[in-house]
Amino acid sequence: MAKAKIIGLGSYYPKKVLTNKDFEKMLETSDEWIRTRTGVEERRIAAEGECASDMGAIAANEALKDANLNGSNIDFILVATSTPDYIFPSTACLIQEKIKANNSAALDVQAACSGFIYAITLAKSLVETKAYKNILVVASEKLSSIVDYEDRNTAVLFGDAATACVVSLDGKGLEIKTTFLAASGKEADLLILPAGGSKYPASLKTVNERKHYIQMNGKEVYKHAVRRMKEAIEKCLEDANLTEKDISWLIPHQANERIIDAIAKRFKHLENDKIFKEVVHKFGNTSASSVGLALDILKKQNRIKPKEKILLTVFGAGFTWGACILENN
Ligand code: UT7
Repeated sequence: MAKAKIIGLGSYYPKKVLTNKDFEKMLETSDEWIRTRTGVEERRIAAEGECASDMGAIAANEALKDANLNGSNIDFILVATSTPDYIFPSTACLIQEKIKANNSAALDVQAACSGFIYAITLAKSLVETKAYKNILVVASEKLSSIVDYEDRNTAVLFGDAATACVVSLDGKGLEIKTTFLAASGKEADLLILPAGGSKYPASLKTVNERKHYIQMNGKEVYKHAVRRMKEAIEKCLEDANLTEKDISWLIPHQANERIIDAIAKRFKHLENDKIFKEVVHKFGNTSASSVGLALDILKKQNRIKPKEKILLTVFGAGFTWGACILENN
């Protein structure tokens, strides 16, 4: 059976850079603490009025160009985001209009930081069953709109960015060999944006209690992230009938360099120079956009050789987690 491929990739990040030194002026923190505890050096912040659909549409147009397609060739748009422009309409509909993909269906996927691999998995199924032909997967996050810049525990971690890819059976690209997805709602409270939904609709009280911002139990999330991404890597390798020796590049969710290092330590054959970390250093945690942005940067640097296999793994609120193996064909 023909396998789905990523035939075009693109990304976008805003111009404005927020450095650790900038945070020293805003909060009781230090460049040294942020670097040593997280690996983050700087992050990007969207301009006033720039929203998820704007950033996603720019990344989408770049991915379309890379695939030699235009909006009218797309028949499904999947957008992974935790920072949609609105609760409804979906950000996918807004991006559809911006890129003139008038022949497509459009749907948002909410799997927090795991959204890119969740959406890729859906796209793979939809093209391999021949229900749809060319699917545009976009991840776009304006986390600066939901970060509490008075909370040093979370403020320094996150940044804004978008990424996109075209998934199709036709053309050359990165074959999506195997994907693995999982979730556990038991830990929902450990990483949450409590207000603004149907449980706590926006009110003066929810605003005063700062409930429209990300709340995270960092220590607990950290432990689950390491454990679950390790499991996802193992499961995905097993499903693909491969071993860690077959993997040329590991791209873990770029939330914290220490989490990435802790995962790497658990695999003997994944060498350090094959583990991609540049996104966490330069962009911080960009949630759903994180691994797609990393993949796009790696590809633009011409570092992926023919036939090499890349393993992406993700973890986020929900909890949700997953992995996928791509092969450069
Ligand atoms: O994308 C979804 C996945 N998200 C993640 O994977 C994030 C997972 N969690 C983490 O990355 C880490 O837990 C954090 C980076 C959030 C925190 O690192 P930690 O090593 O777990 O630190 P901690 O929470 O145990 O805090 C240690 C100390 C505390 O002070 P006390 O209570 O020991 O006096 C914090 O108040 O560091 C303090 N602290 C800070 N100090 C300076 C927390 N944030 C900061 C800060 N600057 N920005």
